[in-house]
Amino acid sequence: MSARLAVVGGGVIGSMIAWRAARNGWRTTLHAPDIAGAGTSVAGGMLGCAGEGRPGEDAVLEFALAARERWPALLADLEQSGVDTADIKVARDTLLVAADSSDAGHLRAVIDHLAAFDVRPEAVDRSRMRSAASMLGSSVRRGHLVAGEGAVDNRALLAAVRCGAREAGVTVTAEKVCRVDDLDADQVVVAAGSWTSDLVEGLPVTAEKGEILRLSRPPTAPPPPDAVVRARWRGRSVYVVPRRDGVVVGATQYETGDRGDTAPRVGGVSDLLIDATELMPGLAEYRVVEIGSGLRPTTPDGLPLVGRSDARTIVAVGHGRNGILTAPLTAELVVDLLDDPPSTSPWVARLDPRRFP
Ligand code: GLY
Repeated sequence: MSARLAVVGGGVIGSMIAWRAARNGWRTTLHAPDIAGAGTSVAGGMLGCAGEGRPGEDAVLEFALAARERWPALLADLEQSGVDTADIKVARDTLLVAADSSDAGHLRAVIDHLAAFDVRPEAVDRSRMRSAASMLGSSVRRGHLVAGEGAVDNRALLAAVRCGAREAGVTVTAEKVCRVDDLDADQVVVAAGSWTSDLVEGLPVTAEKGEILRLSRPPTAPPPPDAVVRARWRGRSVYVVPRRDGVVVGATQYETGDRGDTAPRVGGVSDLLIDATELMPGLAEYRVVEIGSGLRPTTPDGLPLVGRSDARTIVAVGHGRNGILTAPLTAELVVDLLDDPPSTSPWVARLDPRRFP
């Protein structure tokens, strides 16, 4: 009889871990209660290495680049399970732009930081920018194209991964878990985002709230961009990610001490609307169909916590702004940790949940 695994957390990370573990022979139950503010459902779905690159965050960029390598195999795997990944892939490239000279200086610093990792977005002129995003307004000042850095539809991805998990034999339950000790399992993985520290003590995880908007395109409005557009816009950050029927606009980011605080904040929503419609004036014709807010679990060094907290429990949390991109690598590491003998990947030491004093 195979060993029993309980995975707590039904976001893309927990679901991917459950899928991979079941394929590896674990009798797996995925505990996926519906939680307001859970990260996967309010994401833009960007597979952002360059787009999330920030000077000083070298290790975060390294982890993102390592995770990016897992995506072709993941998408091929989903195709093999009968998923049409054309419904999941929503953009192939990313355009980085800036508004005023201070924003352009910020973008230049990001480009220099990326070059140290051999990531070299191409400087593009206005006509190349407009072919990636025809709605761009005239105040855009500088553009760099990151070819091959696209985006996925976060909700379609989660549905496909859950479907793969079920096919692999995972039992999915909406039952909420209050204590790891109550779970009837040989091993437990807790991947419950900002709620992980309710189940495992002593994790340095902070919840950072963010607002995000979904806009739909009426037939008379200009089409969504082909590429993800990420802008430094008058000192703030804004991104526009295409969807089949519109765009996702994101995202604000600020600490919240209250995980019950999941209602979108007026100031955050208004900043996003102002920045997005200055960046792409045609978006003013779109309809607001959803205003969401979610909690990003973050850690002191920006890298997630992936590893054992005790002999029976593994945690996978703290993926911050890059949960979707880094989910396949995280699932691979967790499944390797469950193996006997466990993985020797250098990431195991670097992501050790006990690495902080
Ligand atoms: N990765 C995009 C965000 O966290 O808003």
